[in-house]
Amino acid sequence: MVSYKSLGLVNTKDMFAKAVAGGYAVPAFNFNNMEQLQAIIQAASETKSPVILQVSKGARKYANATLLRYMAEGAVEYAKELGWENPQIVLHLDHGDAFETCKSCVDSGFSSVMIDGSHLPYEENIALTKQVVEYAHQYDVTVEAELGVLAGVEDEVSAAESHYTKPEEVIDFATRTGCDSLAISIGTSHGAYKFTPEQCTRDPKTGKLVPPPLAFDVLHEIEKKLPGFPIVLHGSSSVPQDEVDTINKFGGKLPDAVGIPEEQLREASKSAVCKINIDSDSRLAMTAAIRKHFAENPGHFDPRQYLTPARDNMKKMYIHKIVEVLGSNGKAE
Ligand code: G3H
Ligand code: 13P
Ligand code: ZN
Repeated sequence: MVSYKSLGLVNTKDMFAKAVAGGYAVPAFNFNNMEQLQAIIQAASETKSPVILQVSKGARKYANATLLRYMAEGAVEYAKELGWENPQIVLHLDHGDAFETCKSCVDSGFSSVMIDGSHLPYEENIALTKQVVEYAHQYDVTVEAELGVLAGVEDEVSAAESHYTKPEEVIDFATRTGCDSLAISIGTSHGAYKFTPEQCTRDPKTGKLVPPPLAFDVLHEIEKKLPGFPIVLHGSSSVPQDEVDTINKFGGKLPDAVGIPEEQLREASKSAVCKINIDSDSRLAMTAAIRKHFAENPGHFDPRQYLTPARDNMKKMYIHKIVEVLGSNGKAE
């Protein structure tokens, strides 16, 4: 049993309480490799922003669970080396699929876990979440749960709406499970294709796709039912058009990629939404920089040559999210 406390990590309890009270959101960035982790830590250290390092099941499979955990431990020391005296870093399991996965993370030094029972029938979601909460809380590890199903790109807008979190369920769910934060569905979705062109309108000036707005009415209803309770938004990449254009210009093919407009995330950050999940934007920033570098430097084959601009581009994106969208800069001095 390795306690996250001995690794210099923190759980989300105080972090979220401050974020809700302060009207900002904490970034939760996924990582699978060293360059992403370096960029995240550099961005958080420079802006003194609390940060959540997220590891998905796929990331654990890709990079090795033990290696990723030690990398997060190293990240705390790296942040200190960069001059961040009191780093506020959470190591979080993203989309935990079973009690055993969550237990293994709690036992190996994670400070927070998500149990994603959102696809289960309501009572089964409650039972599974409660089981994880009872285990994790013994070790002061915080637990994120999910209620409502995020839309997939194949959903019709009307079908997607029917999967929104039901405000009338949240009090019962939060009380009976004892979860520390709740991921809700209000129209965000995972990946770089969050909406089909049919679900969007077109900006008459630019011809670009304009996605349907998030269901802020549902968010506000939930806030009323659970005042001050930490709310989480998954699927919150903005899919920046300039990165998509760079990818497409240099040989990529991402037609009609579309994300969540930043103004809406800015608005959400001021509410009880205190954790915003971003993964796809990091993938796009990395891929755009690498494609551009290869196109301009066809003779390069040392990975450091193309991973340096990739890392710099991700860092720029992380700082932009922290400072211009979530408002978490300076909140972990
Ligand atoms: O929510 C999903 C995250 O973007 C992680 O994606 O399962 O491909 O690592 P992944
Ligand atoms: P994006 O695909 O929008 O980056 O969402 C990431 C996420 O929700 C991770 O859990
Ligand atoms: Zn997610």
